[in-house]
This record gives sequence, structure tokens and C-alpha cells, in this order.
Amino acid sequence: MQPGTQPNESPGADPLALFVEWQALAVERGGVMPDAFALATATRDGRPSVRTVLFKGVLDGGVRLVTNYDSRKGRELTENPQGALMFYWPVLERQVRMEGRLERAPTSESDAYFASRDRESQLGAWASAQSQPVPSRAALLAEFDRVRQRFEGAPVPRPPHWGVVHLIPERVELWMAGPHRLHDRFEYTREGAGWRCQRLMP
Ligand SMILES: Cc1cc2nc3c(=O)[nH]c(=O)nc-3n(C[C@H](O)[C@H](O)[C@H](O)COP(=O)(O)O)c2cc1C
Repeated sequence: MQPGTQPNESPGADPLALFVEWQALAVERGGVMPDAFALATATRDGRPSVRTVLFKGVLDGGVRLVTNYDSRKGRELTENPQGALMFYWPVLERQVRMEGRLERAPTSESDAYFASRDRESQLGAWASAQSQPVPSRAALLAEFDRVRQRFEGAPVPRPPHWGVVHLIPERVELWMAGPHRLHDRFEYTREGAGWRCQRLMP
């Protein structure tokens, strides 16, 4: 789908398939960190927070990321499972927004993903109580050394507080820059097993 050349009809029936195509295109075109996106969570009473995380693919209709479940985002998604995300690829002049439910993946999926990571990253997941205060960088490195010694000569198991999260979108918006700031926006909302699509004013 080329920016600015779309007729009024929907650019495709499945916004997640289009999203995956766009993300792959951003990689192919040499975009800067094409796998980085903003993830918003909120407290039980709706106070939002946002941070950058990395895209780990789409599985069963959910966008995947990995994180520490005891981090601020991890705690927020447990108390309020509604989240939002945003990708922006300057190289394509395209943006994707999604809103929906945040869920921890099954432990088997997190185990498999953890096992695929390099050993240093696995040790890092044990060493970092993400989002907790630490007195100094030296203290963090000392914890990393302690963990390295603990697992010396053995495989590193997945920490129970670390794993995959899925954002299962209820709404997806695809945005493409167009001439005269008359950008193309397509809003998809869930309808039964499929999606309803409408064009929005820029
Ligand atoms: C480019 C980039 C990629 C990041 N990727 C991740 C990630 O995949 N998972 C993660 O938990 N944090 C990632 N972070 C760190 C988060 O932005 C954030 O600092 C951390 O998750 C703690 O956020 P929280 O306290 O809101 O939970 C990344 C940061 C940057 C700048």
C-alpha cells in the first residue's frame, strides 16, 4: 500500500497483517530501531505512563513484548489490563496505534522466548529488579556478578518475574503521511471475528 494513493475503501481486511507488512518494510528500508514502540499502561484509577519497548512479533492476534512483571508497567498491567501502543517509522512516514487488552503470555511461551536469548541477557533478567531503586551502578554490576556465579556452568532458567506480554488490540489505526497534510488514516475496530474499517479525517 503506497502512502497517499489509497482510494476510500479499506486498505485490507486484517490490520495486524498490514502492521506486520509495514514493520518488515521499515526494517527493509533501514529505519532507525524499527522494532521500538511506545507502550502505555495505566494504574487502576487511570493514571497513564508510557515507555519504549521492543517488538517481539505477532502471535495469535497479539503484539508481543517482553518485560519484568514486577516493573511499574508490569504492576500496572496487572491492576489495569488496558493498554495502548504506538509505532512511528520516520523512514516510511507511517504510524500505527493500537489499544486493547494486555495479558501475560502462557509460561511455556515465556520459557521458550527466554531460552532463545543470549546468556548475558538471561543473567541480566535475574540481576535487574526492574523499576526498583538501586544505590549505584556498582551495586547493579555486583548483583550481575553474583547472578553470574550462581548460575556458573548451568543453564539459566527463566526468572518467574520475567516474561512475554501480549497486547490484543480492539482498535488499530494505520496512518500514512499524505500531501498537503491530508494524511490517510484508517481506523479498525473489532467486529465479531473480523474488523470494521473506516477512513478518518487527518
Ligand atoms: C530502545 C529501547 C528499548 C527498550 N526495550 C525494552 C523492552 O523490550 N522491555 C522492557 O521491559 N524495557 C525496555 N526498555 C526500557 C523501558 O523503556 C523502561 O525504561 C523499562 O521497561 C522500565 O519501565 P517501567 O518502570 O515503566 O516498567 C527499552 C528502552 C529503550 C530506550
